[in-house]
Amino acid sequence: MKAVLLGVNIDHVATIRQLRVTPYPDLLTAAQMAVAAGADSITVHLREDRRHIQDQDVIILMQSLTVPLNLELAVTDSMLAFAEKVRPAYCCFVPEKREELTTEGGLDVVTNREKIRIACERAEQAGIRASLFIDAEAAQIEAAVAVGARTIEIHTGHYADTEKGPAQNNELIRIRQAVALGVAAGLQVNAGHGLNYNNVLAIAALEDIHELNIGHSIVAQAVLTGLTGAVQEMKRIIAGARQ
Ligand code: PXP
Repeated sequence: MKAVLLGVNIDHVATIRQLRVTPYPDLLTAAQMAVAAGADSITVHLREDRRHIQDQDVIILMQSLTVPLNLELAVTDSMLAFAEKVRPAYCCFVPEKREELTTEGGLDVVTNREKIRIACERAEQAGIRASLFIDAEAAQIEAAVAVGARTIEIHTGHYADTEKGPAQNNELIRIRQAVALGVAAGLQVNAGHGLNYNNVLAIAALEDIHELNIGHSIVAQAVLTGLTGAVQEMKRIIAGARQ
């Protein structure tokens, strides 16, 4: 059976860099390490407040990556103009509120049809595959098809935020039904948000999902798995200073 693909979101590597506006950690190096480890694509979210990913990051990634770049962006004219210039493989349109910690819900395609239809059309005309980040709701999937999206990403945040047990199982059923609806309508169906090492298994087992997009938990895990070597390296340098 075909395994689900993994798109690695590296926003939070840039979060660490932007906390002090240092040149490190280098985003392209992080992306290349993720690809060497098996990432099938790289995702970045260029937020309107530029809190992590910067315009130049997207340009550099586009010039150097050997896997598809999935650019998450709000449905605004300036973001679309940037995407048209850079031409990533995918544009994933997401809702965006400035004050939110992370993307809180799916895009409301039902009530913003015309705006999102135009965004999909502009992306496709620039050779970019348009993807819509939506909740696991039939009406949103139908609207996504109607506005011309070729890909949807099902929001798994509600599943991730729900405690293990019957409630989480209901969320899983909703996602399974949404995946089936999307695939039946001819869409490529991805999923993501809030997935981590404890909750990903049931989602990854849903056969028709093309790709999972995972970021925060991977970067958090990397901090722990990389800490031993990072401390050893600093210790080695300072130990050698007075010899
Ligand atoms: N998919 C979308 C559309 C997102 O906006 C995000 C977060 O930027 C993710 C996936 C990744 O979510 P997480 O960082 O929780 O894995």
